[in-house]
Amino acid sequence: MADSGFNTPYRGQEKLIVAFDIGSTQSAVSFMHAYNGSIPTVRMVTRWPGQPSGSGDSKIPTIVAYKNGTPVVCGVEAQDYVADDAYEIAKWFKLHLHPDSMKVSDQPPEYGSSETAQIRIPELPSGVTLMQVYVAFMSYIFKATEDFFAGTTPNGVAIWQRLQHDMVIVMAIPNGWDTQQQEFLKRAAIEAGMVSSDKDADLRIEFISEAEASVHYVLQKSNNQTWLRKGVMFAVTDCGGSTIDSTLYECKSAHPRIILEEVVASECVQAGGVFVDAAAYTTLANRLRGSSHEDKDQILEMIDVFEKKTKRLFDGTQNVNTIQFGGRTQTDRSYGILNGRISLSREEMASTFDSAIVRTVNSCLKLLRGHKIQHLILVGGFGESPYLRKRLGDVFGRQGTEIVTVEEPTKKAAAEGAAIWYTKQLVIGRAARVNIGIDVCPMYDQRDKGHIARRGLMYIDADGCQRIPGRFEVWITKDFVMNSDFHKVYECRNHYADRPTTLSQFSLPILAWSGDNPTQWVTDPQGALLPKMKLLCRVEGDLTPLLPSLRQRAGPNGTRYWCLDYKVLISFGGTKLKARFQWMEGRSVREGPLSVVPGSAV
Ligand SMILES: Nc1ncnc2c1ncn2[C@@H]1O[C@H](COP(=O)(O)OP(=O)(O)OP(=O)(O)O)[C@@H](O)[C@H]1O
Ligand SMILES: [Mg+2]
Repeated sequence: MADSGFNTPYRGQEKLIVAFDIGSTQSAVSFMHAYNGSIPTVRMVTRWPGQPSGSGDSKIPTIVAYKNGTPVVCGVEAQDYVADDAYEIAKWFKLHLHPDSMKVSDQPPEYGSSETAQIRIPELPSGVTLMQVYVAFMSYIFKATEDFFAGTTPNGVAIWQRLQHDMVIVMAIPNGWDTQQQEFLKRAAIEAGMVSSDKDADLRIEFISEAEASVHYVLQKSNNQTWLRKGVMFAVTDCGGSTIDSTLYECKSAHPRIILEEVVASECVQAGGVFVDAAAYTTLANRLRGSSHEDKDQILEMIDVFEKKTKRLFDGTQNVNTIQFGGRTQTDRSYGILNGRISLSREEMASTFDSAIVRTVNSCLKLLRGHKIQHLILVGGFGESPYLRKRLGDVFGRQGTEIVTVEEPTKKAAAEGAAIWYTKQLVIGRAARVNIGIDVCPMYDQRDKGHIARRGLMYIDADGCQRIPGRFEVWITKDFVMNSDFHKVYECRNHYADRPTTLSQFSLPILAWSGDNPTQWVTDPQGALLPKMKLLCRVEGDLTPLLPSLRQRAGPNGTRYWCLDYKVLISFGGTKLKARFQWMEGRSVREGPLSVVPGSAV
């Protein structure tokens, strides 16, 4: 079993993380159970219903068998129903979820053939929605994960029950997906019973791009000390069933921690392994037209063998590539069928790959435009193809780029990498990419040049003091490494001239400064936000429950005013910002929720 262990013991509350990679053709799940003092280890689910015992395969086909609109069975077991007319099969359904921006061809091919990839996405079973298919499949893999965990972890049943309502669910998704697809998956997770509500989904579901997840897998599995140095630029390409996701990274630091930064926006193109199968279908259908084998189902049987064997063996050198689809009695020499076998020539084989390869190369070239990289790391099932590797090697080798592959099969790198990614944040911490802080209003200081320049913005507060807005109070400096429980406590005091009867909404903008030199100000002397100052997020909440804690006070010059004291606790350590209020009511500490509304990405 491919286990990804970490060296640092975990310190903190017991946690369960489950990471899903629902691929177009294959899916896999990984998980990690951490408790205080344990060495976190990411494991894959390697036993699925219907799998021959001991096969240890971590991947299952992403298919659901339906009968009269009802899901009957999924994954390995559903394969038995593929040829049964009484059942309808939902397959490649992930392609229905791709946004329109991904459905069209991105650009005319610049390299090699000008053929455009065409594929017909199989229809969903009649009367069944895409949401229903996802719910059925997610319920199934979630249940199988629970069973595997319970059966392979000492005391597993009790641990799962104890942690399931707090477990973190990580989902690997294509780079090209945006919030619409994420919302879709959250809804499906609610309906599949993985989380209980919208709020619970926001809190517990994390998304990571398949490419980024793959990077974490590769770094864990490969001997990266030999090539990963500060300043090295490399690309990772996840060649899946339907999409090829590529991301360009620069290594900002290799020691003591690896810090990677995305150099440009990643690329996502539809050119995965199913396009090769689709091209092979067309080739065979053309060849067999008029023969006793022209029937669609017979050709699909041939494609099944082609997909599992012929395609995977092809490295560009074989002149004869056989597809053994039937019994010895099946011979039709005029159509090249001999003893249940049909062969494709080297040229025919190569042409089935052409369109997918052209698009993959174009997508990588687009990503690398203007950048020189030493390494292109290939992961994903289609990335195992010796022919694809060779063709990519031909193009990128000329540019001095080495194609790197990991020795262990990378077909499900995204699933394992997604859990590794989350676990790393727990045990290693995350480096701040920018300076993070807030906008505060200090008392006017007539000796401070910055204050003098902003005199025009000065105002008198309810406590009678002169204040200047726009001062940047830095909470976290760039590159500071935050561990999982890192949080900031912000002490707030709101001033009111008269006793308020209602309290307004609390809203605290959290700002990110991406400039190279530190800044003391958020705004320029005219009050305009500095160009490199961005809104990271806004922490918001209802102050009404704090009304009873209002107190009257006197300002430095005797002005009486009302004030509200409370603390805002913001945790930065995980992958997501979380915040809550804390205030005193009499002698007891009270707490309330705050929501975090994302601002522009930094
Ligand atoms: N050795 C191989 N040679 C060629 N193709 C292969 C090989 N092994 C697997 N494949 C192909 O890889 C594809 C599956 O890869 P993978 O499991 O990474 O995709 P996926 O996660 O289902 O798809 P996506 O990431 O696009 O949603 C299939 O099309 C399969 O035929
Ligand atoms: Mg994939």
